[in-house]
Parts: sequence; structure tokens; C-alpha cells
Amino acid sequence: MGEVDPAFVQAIEHRPRLEPIEVAEDIPVIDLSTVLNPPDHNTTQQIITRIGAACETWGFFQVVNHGVPADLRRTVAAVAKKFFDGSSEEKRKVKRDEVNPMGYYESEHTKNVRDWKEVFDFLVHDPSQIPASHEPDDKELKILTNQWPHFPADFREACEDYAREVEKLAYKLLELISMSLGLSANRLNGYFKDQTSFLRLNHYPPCPFPHLALGVGHHKDAGGLTVLAQDDVGGLEVRRKSDREWIPVKPTPDAYIINVGDIVQVWSNEKYESVEHRVVVNSTKERFSIPFFFNPANYTMVKPLQELVNEKNPAKYREYNWGKFLATRSRSDFKKRDVENIQIYHFRVSDN
Ligand code: OGA
Ligand code: NI
Repeated sequence: MGEVDPAFVQAIEHRPRLEPIEVAEDIPVIDLSTVLNPPDHNTTQQIITRIGAACETWGFFQVVNHGVPADLRRTVAAVAKKFFDGSSEEKRKVKRDEVNPMGYYESEHTKNVRDWKEVFDFLVHDPSQIPASHEPDDKELKILTNQWPHFPADFREACEDYAREVEKLAYKLLELISMSLGLSANRLNGYFKDQTSFLRLNHYPPCPFPHLALGVGHHKDAGGLTVLAQDDVGGLEVRRKSDREWIPVKPTPDAYIINVGDIVQVWSNEKYESVEHRVVVNSTKERFSIPFFFNPANYTMVKPLQELVNEKNPAKYREYNWGKFLATRSRSDFKKRDVENIQIYHFRVSDN
């Protein structure tokens, strides 16, 4: 078993409790079949109400009958497994670096502690543009492109076919969330025209010290929405808003787990919160998950939506640029840094 590499060891207050807690209420599971075909006004309205309630209470919900074909999901899961089972030589050929953040890597840090996982990232729209640097006055953009491994041979096709379908679901969810805020269905769509969304294949290998390490340390997703496929192993935990307890998200076959990211928190002026979550690993089973991070265009200036603020409910955030936020955040993915990552509360206006 060997020595525990201290880079993976969480501070005591962040270490997971491994015996499961009894959960009285679960994160809501919402059936989208009636929204997708054929829409009936009353049931659609009920679903929008349930989504709004889930966003307020949990920041998370699950969806079933969501329209993403199960065979595409199975195929992408199968190529992901083959790729991660493959040689480190093959993985190294598509390794990401400071120039191109897309591809394979195994040394991500969340809040400066190393995660027990390896990942492969690819853009949903290839190419995409992001700022060349985090410096506020530097207007230069860099073009990101995907890197594809040659093994397994159908890897790229499986990933691209899957991405197209999850993107459709992400737009549908964005529309439902927009309506749940009392806005028109397409109020938020324009921000995603030149989207910087990406998909991540996560592999969490069995871990000999699951009481000390985490697959992903506690964090909030920075973007718009996350649409996550998890396998049947389990490990994702969500911080319950009511008592800050860590609640496991029970795997539901073929469901997607949806959470609102920091941008929706700001747009909604905190009606919806981007909730903390983490991934617990275990000593016997490997786990796979596939999040789709639905992110707006790099030039998006993020601020509370004007329709949702007024004198009684003034804007709680100053405006910030999404591309610069992303560029600042990604600096910390490569190495341990002494300073805290950029967070949206840095743009929070104080309450008094
Ligand atoms: C993430 C994340 C959860 C999971 O990658 O941001 O929260 O279950 N993943 O893998
Ligand atoms: Ni996350």
C-alpha cells in the first residue's frame, strides 16, 4: 500500500465520513417526458415550478426521460473506460498543458489539494476562444482546440455524438430555469451563442486511503449549468443548504444530475445558489462520471439580470467578465498555489 502522498491529504475538517448517513429526503428527481413531447401547458408549468423549488432548496436536481439517447451515453462511457485503461504512453500524447487546457491530465488540484482522479476534457464547440491571460487589460484571445487520442478508434465520434445530445438537453434546462425565474424561455440563450462549454470524462480509481483523500474536493461549479452523468457506484455528495450536512446523491439509472453554477447564482441575484459538492472515493471500486459544463461566451459580462433587481432587491454582485474569471481560475489547476482561487464572492456587494 505504501506511503500516503501528502499532496492528496485533505485537512481534517474536509475529510469525508465514510459510513453513509440516513437521508430522509432526496434530491428531487424530475421527469421531463411531458415537457419534451408533446408539451402540455399545465404539466409544463408544474415541472417549471418543481425545478424552481429544487434550485432554491438544493441547487441540484435529477432528470429522467430527458431525451438523451441511452445508447450514446453507454458508448461514451465504454470508450472512456477503454481510454483510461489504456497505456500512459497513449494518454501522454494528448496531455494538456498551459497552452492548451483541453485533453488528458491527472494532477488537478481543487483548493490546492490534489484530487484522486484522472480526466479528459474536450470542447463542445471546437474551436472556442478564451482570453490569452488573466490580466484585466490584456484583450488578446487564444484559440482552444480539442486533442483526440487514436485509441480507442471510435473515441472522438462517440464523444462528439454524445456532446451534441447533451447540449440539447442543457438548452432545454436553461429554458426551464429561465421560465422558473419568471423570464421568457429564451431570455438566457443568447449568452451561449459562442459558448465555452466543455465535457469532462472523469475516472476515479480505487483509492487505498478514502478517509483522507477526495476524488474532487469541495467546490462550486463556476459556469452556467452542469449536466452530469454518473455511473452506479456513487460518491457525489452535495452540501445541504438547511444544515450544511453532506448528502450523497444516490445513483438513479440513466438520470442526469443538474446543478446551477455560479453564473446562475449571480444572474438570479442569489434566488438560486451554486451549491458546494465533492466526490468521495472508495477502496475497491473505480468510478466514472461525465459532467457537461454549460458555459457562456468568453466575452459575457455576468451580473444580476435587470428584470430580477429593484429597489427592494438591489444587485448583490458587481459585473465581471466570464472569460477573465475562467482564465484566472485555470491558472491554479496546474500547481499548488498559496493564494485562494478567484471566487464569485469577490464580486459580492456587501449587505450594508
Ligand atoms: C466536477 C464534479 C462530480 C462527479 O467535475 O465538477 O463535481 O460526480 N464532478 O464526478
Ligand atoms: Ni463540480
